[in-house]
Amino acid sequence: MKALVLESSTKVEDLKLSDIDIPKVKDDWVLVKVMAFGMNHSEALFRQFEIDNPTFNKPVVPGIECVGIVEDPSNSDLSKGDKVIALMGGMGRTFNGSYEEYVLLPRKNVFKVNTKLDWIHLAAIPETYFTAWGSLFECLQLKENDSLLIRGGTSALGIASIILAKSLGCRVLVTVRSDKHNELLEYLGVDKIIIDTENSIKDKIVEKVDKILELVGPLTVPESLKLLNKGGICCSTGILGNVFTLDKFDPIKEIPNGCYLTGFYSNYPTQEIIDEMMTFIDDYEIIPEIGKVYSFDDVIEYSRDLENGKTNGKGIVVVDKELKKQI
Ligand SMILES: NC(=O)c1ccc[n+]([C@@H]2O[C@H](COP(=O)([O-])OP(=O)(O)OC[C@H]3O[C@@H](n4cnc5c(N)ncnc54)[C@H](OP(=O)(O)O)[C@@H]3O)[C@@H](O)[C@H]2O)c1
Repeated sequence: MKALVLESSTKVEDLKLSDIDIPKVKDDWVLVKVMAFGMNHSEALFRQFEIDNPTFNKPVVPGIECVGIVEDPSNSDLSKGDKVIALMGGMGRTFNGSYEEYVLLPRKNVFKVNTKLDWIHLAAIPETYFTAWGSLFECLQLKENDSLLIRGGTSALGIASIILAKSLGCRVLVTVRSDKHNELLEYLGVDKIIIDTENSIKDKIVEKVDKILELVGPLTVPESLKLLNKGGICCSTGILGNVFTLDKFDPIKEIPNGCYLTGFYSNYPTQEIIDEMMTFIDDYEIIPEIGKVYSFDDVIEYSRDLENGKTNGKGIVVVDKELKKQI
């Protein structure tokens, strides 16, 4: 089968697909035929430098999520032919991930789904919607009358969060780096677009908000905390600002009294949460926004677009040969 195999940090222009054996099934692991996978900012970081961390076994096939069909359920309760999604838990990092035609995954990382979405739209769901869902509902405890500020609104995660929050009826404000996606943001129902080219919006925002989803991350979290209403919550989920930690952060002075700072980590999905999320998506007839769709063979093109932030939202890579004919 075809796979993208990484030995160490690799430049985009040196990437190519290789032929490797289909993995052999073992107890408690499930073999999934990959139909498509969504691309993630973290996969670019992994390929560029994180992979060199000695804790990761190499060679490794990257890719932290996929959608597909159970090819061999092994000793699990799943059946051949089940429609599944898979994400995280070490996928594409400590064991081989989705950039291949068949992927062997721990049973606990594979979730059955019952959905009206086609494969390409379903491929936009696993990591991005699970993270948006967890950040908004578990961490920010989002309610329909809340005002929500999303910093980094044009990332795939930002767009998914806009869609979920607008379905609920929230007032949604977003920060973006330019006006090039304004048409899409307006179409999605965003109430206020704030252009932020300096990682600071204190002079551009006149209202305080109930909830903040931080996708720019530690770079702007200290400022975001000051923009919260009393009782407000800020959830730091992204690291688009390329600052990974809060250094010299004084919680006593920097978290306003009666406000809360939390974070979300998508590493621990469960079937219960996936079912809850898929039911919401179905009930609200949510169709995820797709940025660009690529064929698995065009590895340099999609990896370059991911690295340069040119996927125009959620990038999807189609692996299955029949599905590729549709793009
Ligand atoms: N905590 C978790 O478990 C978890 C899970 C998933 C993702 N994440 C994180 O969430 C963030 C979003 O992930 P993603 O996969 O959705 O990213 P993505 O779609 O690859 O986001 C890229 C886009 O974000 C925008 N952007 C980049 N830097 C920005 C900045 N400094 N300020 C504002 N916007 C910026 C750019 O849009 P424009 O070109 O329009 O400016 C860029 O095209 C990433 O940092 C990712 O690592 C965290």
